[in-house]
Amino acid sequence: MKTGVGASHAKTILLGEHSVVYGKPAIAFPILSLGLKATATQSDNGNYLDTPFHSGPVAEIGTGDESLEQLLAETALRNIMSWIGPASSDRAISVKVEGLIPPARGLGSSAAVAGAVIKSVANLHGLSLTSEEQFELVQSVERVAHGTPSGLDAYATSTDVPIWFEKGRAKPLRAKKNPALLVADTGIPGHTVEAVSNVRSKRNANTKEVDELFDKIADLTVQGGSSLEAGEFRQLGSLMNQNHAILRDLGVSNDPLENLVATALEAGAIGAKLTGGGLGGCIVVLGESEDTLTEIATSLIGAGANKVWNVNQAEGNF
Ligand code: MEV
Repeated sequence: MKTGVGASHAKTILLGEHSVVYGKPAIAFPILSLGLKATATQSDNGNYLDTPFHSGPVAEIGTGDESLEQLLAETALRNIMSWIGPASSDRAISVKVEGLIPPARGLGSSAAVAGAVIKSVANLHGLSLTSEEQFELVQSVERVAHGTPSGLDAYATSTDVPIWFEKGRAKPLRAKKNPALLVADTGIPGHTVEAVSNVRSKRNANTKEVDELFDKIADLTVQGGSSLEAGEFRQLGSLMNQNHAILRDLGVSNDPLENLVATALEAGAIGAKLTGGGLGGCIVVLGESEDTLTEIATSLIGAGANKVWNVNQAEGNF
């Protein structure tokens, strides 16, 4: 049987969330231990999706009763089929998505599911999408989820190297060596849409002050790019800590995130901050070396983290 495959993964933002929505730069890393694989096959029984969130036939238009995760996966399948055009409509398509990125944790789950579905259907038709085509298609799904996404998640979940993202464009970042990173989940769903909207209201009320905070984050991100390239991780950690303090001032941190950030630093981390939209979700932590991560992960779990993932190692869950 003819099959098409597509892979994607979770992402973590090292520096620059929120300000990236306003055209400032951000740095994101793929989380290689949190991957998804989609397999597309031709089907005789109509279009069908089987994902960790939902399994069932895909109607030509939505019913309005779908969960957000179902709606997004279905939108991805419909959009890639209509992008391919008549060649995709002579046979129905069934797509199975394996792997699970916890949704609503700032890890890019919605963009990753969309990315894997889109790649697998293109692959089934012998098409290899350019990164811009892939980006536009994932963004068409992300707009349903987030309204005004910067596009960072669309690139970062489909590219398996660290990226520098600015104004809708991504380029690979070359780190001298990989920083020792882990991501820890508060277990509490984050609220990206609400967080982005709160930051917008704050900026509407206090444009000058909030734009100054965005400029500071941009400055930290530029320095972070140089620190990464030079392998100066102590400096990178300090930049992450400063970025977290600004995110707190912007109102997108909360007690569970603060608890995990403080725990990571007490356990010897050299940098820790919330990652993604905030108001729940995850933190990203920089350790002195890979060897120090296990001890930090143990402290985080002791402090209530419900999952901890190694960012750079495919088999590296704690
Ligand atoms: C979402 O992962 C990060 C935000 O900056 C929103 C966006 O980039 O669209 C909060």
